[in-house]
Formats: sequence, structure tokens, C-alpha cells
Amino acid sequence: MITFNEEKKLFKLDTPASSYIMGVYEADLLLCLYYGKRLPDDNVWALARRNISASFSPVVPEIRDHWYSTDAAPMEYPVNGRGDFRLSALSVKNKDGNTVTDLRYVSYEITPGKPDMSPLPHLYCENDADCDTLAITMRDAYTGVEAVLYYTVFNTCDVIAKHVVIKNGGADAVILDRALSAGVDLPAMDYDLITLWGRHVKERQFERRPLAHGIQGVHSKRGVSSHAQNPFAALISTGGGEDVGDAYGFNLVYSGNFEIAAEVDHNASTRVVMGIDPTDFEWNLAPGESFTTPEAVIVYSDEGLGKMSRTFHKAYSEYLIRGKYKKAKRPLLINSWEAAYFDFDTDKLISFAQRAKETGIEMLVMDDGWFGKRNDDTTSLGDWYINTDKLDMARLVDTVHAMGLKFGIWYEPEMISPVSDLYRAHPDWAVHVPGRENSPGRQQYVLDVSREDVRDNIFGQMCSVLKNYKIDYLKWDFNRNVSEAGSALLPPERAHEFFHRFILGTYDLMDRFTKEFPDILFENCSGGGGRFDPGMLYFSPQIWTSDNTDPIERLMIQFGTSLCYPASTMGAHVSACGRTGYRTKGDVALWGTYGYELDPNKLSAEEKQIVKEQVAEYHKYYRLIREGELYRLIAPWDNAFRCAWSFVSQDKSEALVTVVTMRQTQEELFRLKLKGLDPGKYYRNEADGEVYSGALLMYAGLELTDLCGDDGTSFKVYLKEV
Ligand code: GLA
Repeated sequence: MITFNEEKKLFKLDTPASSYIMGVYEADLLLCLYYGKRLPDDNVWALARRNISASFSPVVPEIRDHWYSTDAAPMEYPVNGRGDFRLSALSVKNKDGNTVTDLRYVSYEITPGKPDMSPLPHLYCENDADCDTLAITMRDAYTGVEAVLYYTVFNTCDVIAKHVVIKNGGADAVILDRALSAGVDLPAMDYDLITLWGRHVKERQFERRPLAHGIQGVHSKRGVSSHAQNPFAALISTGGGEDVGDAYGFNLVYSGNFEIAAEVDHNASTRVVMGIDPTDFEWNLAPGESFTTPEAVIVYSDEGLGKMSRTFHKAYSEYLIRGKYKKAKRPLLINSWEAAYFDFDTDKLISFAQRAKETGIEMLVMDDGWFGKRNDDTTSLGDWYINTDKLDMARLVDTVHAMGLKFGIWYEPEMISPVSDLYRAHPDWAVHVPGRENSPGRQQYVLDVSREDVRDNIFGQMCSVLKNYKIDYLKWDFNRNVSEAGSALLPPERAHEFFHRFILGTYDLMDRFTKEFPDILFENCSGGGGRFDPGMLYFSPQIWTSDNTDPIERLMIQFGTSLCYPASTMGAHVSACGRTGYRTKGDVALWGTYGYELDPNKLSAEEKQIVKEQVAEYHKYYRLIREGELYRLIAPWDNAFRCAWSFVSQDKSEALVTVVTMRQTQEELFRLKLKGLDPGKYYRNEADGEVYSGALLMYAGLELTDLCGDDGTSFKVYLKEV
């Protein structure tokens, strides 16, 4: 719900459990006055920090009487060059060549529902009753530049989505050199910053550090959101944790260069800004033109990180993920990559499908190596025609379908091998800059999808395969970061627009494919989870979480990923490698979108039996995991020996608890306190028939000492209401 108090000039944005309050101050400054637990009233003007002067900081000329400085004020959308020396969200280079920017409040509008931000990915709202949108227009009187600040407030979960449309309403061209999506000013610094760092095969590792004076945060200038840092950050009150404390979550719906930064100032206030990374970014705006920033998703939880995560999960499941597979059951797949790498032919793949079918697996995915002359990673990206020396595609696809299995295929659309027909014909279609040799990565260059002609070519090539054969699933990969970032079509004055244009090109391609092939299930991938972000989730409901399939390593990756992203989005497969037995592999993979990544011909009779049982469990728990709520009971960043998590159904009538022993500890009791149950309900433990109240399970805990086995073992406990 959004209200505007005309008399007090206060905007109050209420979600079920949070309030966000902004005020129009003297001289039409827009201030961020409160963000936290829901308030019944809005008597917040005392929070405007009127009396703190910032030494040496200039004051606002129009309100000189009480020396008001924007450098000490909680600015809602901070700008550059007018005396607020902290991080700014907007910096506009004007006709005079300087970047002094000023924004003052002009007007507002409140509407039901949520505006469409296409071509940018965004949260959407099909039912206007679920959310309302506030648009506040700000204006720079000197340049005529306007910024319309959009806030969509959800009535169903504690989410506020923010983005900004910057319009050049003046007579002269301007250049945006910072155009961030959102800022939040908090009046304290007693928070810890949580971010998700990583690298290939070690994605989204939880990292927590106390805020310190100055700037701290995460960013990417790799052309993608990246393995290195996820476009996610959280602030949690000092001493807070999984279930207690104020937690603020920040996530950017964007797959390219980003920045999320927190700056603690001289008054111990914290400013968080987020948006496109300003490094290597500029955008030219001619008179009348406008620029839309990506969307920032902001969550507040008064019950620590657990509730923050569940809020993100609900928001993304309901308002981000689209298409047939938003609700439809995802097929249980087997992928050829770890089973065969590039070494396969028609018969080998058919044998995978045959053996897989015997265990109940539902789809065969043919990974890299089926196109051009690709037998290793040195060639053929960009040549998206069947390698007929290797494959009889019609026989393969027909045979697999005749078995009753679905069929999936791998692509890496935004890449080009220097050894390819496409590169020989169009060397200028690779991303490059004049006068410098391109730096290869995994022996490939990046394809310039900022160009429409390039996108048309790739779309056409891929369509001829996708339309000729019945393809049920498409794995969309991206296996290097972007260097020598430039396009043959961009003039020098637009060179710094490249990175954003590149991502807009990617989104356009994905949009075309998802519209043309609404029945195909898309799974995003980037060397595992190098583009695990909400921008990608808008187009593909699941993402390959990591090339690391070792279950113990996966725990850290999946726990980290779960801070922000729901279980349904995490591709999780059982593979032949990894240091545990198949049962633990299955228990860990069951958390995500389940599958296998191995040669089923090589499974022993005993392993095959385990796979059959796992397939049955996958079906049994599918709805509970897909639609239930996640509780991180023991996180691997808190405990080096064991970790545990559970899914509890929305109606609290059932729960599945999984425990993994990472390192066995001798002679120690293990009593696990569950979470999220109804204290008044009674639950039967399926394994031994014992009945316990939800209260007992949560306050006294389940006694599990005897179930804990050796290093790398796991077990599950299924509880159902009686
Ligand atoms: C990436 C993916 C793998 C596989 C290979 C194929 O590394 O993460 O799953 O698809 O590419 O080259």
C-alpha cells in the first residue's frame, strides 16, 4: 500500500511487515526517512537529521538559515557535485562538460499494478491487487534532465522494486556517467555486510564482515554478473543471524556489469547504492531521449536472514519466473557432459537414454559437441548446424522420443570460435576494439550480440535446428568474460555504451527464443553458475548452479545460492565424481532441479537401484520442495561438521529435513531444533512412527545422534501432520 500525506509531504510505502518512508523536505529535496519494520504512523520528520552539520560540507543555498547539508542528510536518490560527497546514484555530464547534477521533487503518481520494463527483465504483477506503484518525478532545473523514480510495493511479500527512468527534458545533449537503480540511506552502521563471492566451481560463497567507515561492496566489470561476485548483498544487524535481526537484502535484476556498494559516512550513517557498474559506462541522451535503469529488488526482514531469503524465494517464484515451467513439473534429466564430454555419437547417446529410462529418468540432454566440427573446445561456436559426421540427429531425437523421454540440447549463442565458418565470414562480428588483438578465453571470442544483424543470424541458425527437430529443453551457456569490449558499429562517442548494449542484445535474443518456443524449458549456464542472477531467471526458470558436483562442496554453493534464489532455480545433478556415495549425492541434489550427469551404462546394479529409489523420492517430495519454504537449520558457514536444512509446506502439514555429516564428531549429542512448523500441530516421523508436537520439534528438537554416520553421509527425516 502506498499513501501520500499531503500536509506532511510524506510518502509511506507499506508491505505486510515493512514500511519505507520518504519525505519532500525544504527546497524540494527528497529524503529517505525510514526503512524497517512496519509502522502504524508516519510522524518521522524528526528523523530528517536537521541538526547535524557536516564540517566543511557546503549547505543547500535555499535553506541556509539552518545550514542544511545534503552531505549529512538521508538522500533518497543522491546526485553528484552539489555537496553530498558520498556515493551518488546519478551523475550527468552536461553541455558545459561538468557533472554537477541536481534533482528536486516535482510531482508524484500512484497507480495499481506494476509497469512493464521491457526489454529489461523485471518483476511482473499479473494481478493489480498484489502491488501498487509510485512514480516520483525529480528535475534538474539547469539541464532539464528528469529522473522518474519508480517504486513498486508488494502487498503479498516484503519486497520493494525500484528503478529509474532518466529523461533528457532539456535542449542540449547530456551524457549519463552514473545512472544507478536505487539508493537506501540508513541512519546507523551497526550492520554486517553479507555478499556472495566465488569463482568457477566455487560459486556463491557466503562472506560476512562488519561495516567499516568508507566504501565496501561488490561489483563486476566482466560483462556478466559473474562467478566472482553475485549481484546480491545483505545487511544484517550486528549480532543478528538466521532468525534474528534486521536484514536488508539487495539484488539487481541484471546480468551485466553491476555495483552494490555500502558507504559508511562521518556520521556513522550507511548509504547503499546499486545499479550498473559506472566503470566503463556512459550513455548519451539527446534531447527527448530517456534511459531506463535495471530494476533493484529490496527486501526487509525483521527476523534475520532466513525470512529475508524466504521473501526473495516467494517474490521470484511468483513475480519473476515466467512461462510454462513456472508451474509445470520440470523433467528429471540426464546430461551427457560429464558422461562423455565431446566424445559421443548417435548410438552412445541412445544407450544413455535407454539405461536412463530404466531408472525413471525423463529427459536426455545432449551437451556441447553436436555442431559444426566441434570435437573439442577449439572450434565451431557460431556454426550451429548438426555435425553429421558424428550424429544422425533425426534418428537420435526420434528414438529418444519413441522411448517416452524428452530431448534437450546445448547452445552457447553469444560466442564465436576463431576457427569457425562464422568467424571466417564475419571477423568483425566478434566483440573487439580497433588496433588490438583479441584476447581469447577458453579458445573463443565473444560474439557481438549488441548488433541486430548478428542476433538475426544466430536466431535464424538456431531456429533451423529447433524447428526441424522436436527439442524440449535448451541449455544456454556462456563460457568466458568479456574483454576488448567494443562493437564495429559503435562510434567512439558511444564506445562506453557497449556493455549495456551487449546485455540488451542478450535479452533481446532470449526474448525472441522464449516467445518463439514457449514449450521449451530453458536452463541458463555460464561455466556453471557464472550468470546466476534474476535477469537470467526472467528468461530461464532454472540455472546450472555449478560445474562442481561434489556434494560436500555443493553444500556451501547451494546454501549460499539460497540466500536469494529459490530451490526451483538451482540446477543440481548427481554425478559420478565427488567424494561421497550416491545417497548423499542424491540428498544434496534433491534440493534443486534434480538430474544426473553421468554415464548410466557404468552404474553398478546396486547404484542403479539407488538411482531408482532416488527417482521415486524426487517425485514424492517434488511439491514439498518446489512449493514449500526453506529453513537453513545449520549452515556450513556456521558449522564445519554437519549441516541441515528443511522444506516445510505452506500449510505446515509436512516437512522434509536433510542432514549431511561433513566431518564426523565423536561422542557428541545431535539434537536438531526444527523451524517453521506449527507448534500446535502433531507430526509423525515416517521412519519410526513416533508422533511429536511441532512445539516439541522446534523447542526441544529431534534427537538424531544415532543417525549421524561417517564423513560424507546423509539422512532425511520426513514428518507429516497426523
Ligand atoms: C560449461 C558448462 C558445462 C558444460 C560445458 C560444455 O562449462 O558449465 O556444464 O555444458 O560448458 O562446454
